[in-house]
Amino acid sequence: MALNSKIAAALLVFLSLVTAAQSPSGLKDAYKNSFLIGTALNRAHIYGEDARGVALIKQNFNAISPENALKWESIHPQLHRYDFEAADRYVKFGVANHMFIVGHTLVWHNQTPAWVFQDGKGKPLSRDKLLRRMRDHVHKVVGRYKGRIDGWDVVNEAFEEDGTLRQSKWMKIIGEDYITKAFQYAHEGDPKAELYYNEYNLEKPAKRRGVIELIRKLKAQGVQVSAVGLQEHDGLDWPSLEEVDATISDLAELGVKVNITELDINVLPQATSGVTAEVTAKAEARPNLNPYADGLPDSVQQELAKRYAGLFGVFLKHRGVISRVSFWGLADGDSWLNNWPVRGRTNYPLLFDRQGKPKPAYDAVINVALGQATQP
Ligand code: XIL
Repeated sequence: MALNSKIAAALLVFLSLVTAAQSPSGLKDAYKNSFLIGTALNRAHIYGEDARGVALIKQNFNAISPENALKWESIHPQLHRYDFEAADRYVKFGVANHMFIVGHTLVWHNQTPAWVFQDGKGKPLSRDKLLRRMRDHVHKVVGRYKGRIDGWDVVNEAFEEDGTLRQSKWMKIIGEDYITKAFQYAHEGDPKAELYYNEYNLEKPAKRRGVIELIRKLKAQGVQVSAVGLQEHDGLDWPSLEEVDATISDLAELGVKVNITELDINVLPQATSGVTAEVTAKAEARPNLNPYADGLPDSVQQELAKRYAGLFGVFLKHRGVISRVSFWGLADGDSWLNNWPVRGRTNYPLLFDRQGKPKPAYDAVINVALGQATQP
């Protein structure tokens, strides 16, 4: 009897291994006829310290973005010092696992050291000098990963909410053609790489209009733009599915692809006055801003699953123009939304929980691909 049950248990393990090896095993397989499914790798993933996370990444994703490893402050901390250690490992991981590798990001107003915009005396750089600095950086970084990084977020978040260009140091010192220049330099660095303009809140009509105008201008100038990236740092009830749908349609009309680049869903009370993804936004911690520190109520868990299903329904509808849907992080415990815009909250924005277990939202997203409606 004891022996029989041991044999039965061994058989069960064997069978489950065989099934796991054969069955479509993850998100990427469920969506293989529609678009790539990506995630953002943090330092622990890149250095292999999070073995559980790495296994989930290999099983579920065929595209990767670097959460921080390729930002200017990470790879180019000082004028004459580049540090490619983490970035090299990130790219090696993607190549070894045959993944679509994203470079994030070349020109941005955040996580860019102050020295970039200053001369040796701390005075603002001239337009020409800043352009040269931008060109050197972009050539060096894009050139290093030529043929391995498949697509670059060339310019990130260049617009204000009202659709005017953000008065960043890039804009103030160089002027609005800094965007054109950044795309040209990136193209010179790797003529075959895809080049993206990446942004949040394009569901807001004024901001969307600004970006549409920019892409039109770039195209008229003969600048190669492969796709607009919609970050989609979303909430449970904003933006509406109709707004997401209209945003994708409007951008697709420009003849560019539309990628979803940083998807996550905040389930906690909004702490800033308006909806934003500006990483320097800060709000004070208050107990009512952190209601689920001891666990997520089932009702909210279900709401999150439904919300994810709704969004993926819209993405699937647009599968002809969407090449990739990438999440901003892997498991809930990894998410930047635990510390932004309020430090030390407990958020639940992704498809895997703090133990790395797939959540109901995971099943909901898989079911959308299988054409099965999720229960309300
Ligand atoms: C965030 C990272 O997730 C954090 O770890 C970091 O501290 C700040 O930046 N829009 C972007 C991303 O384009 O680069 C930001 O990532 C999130 C908002």
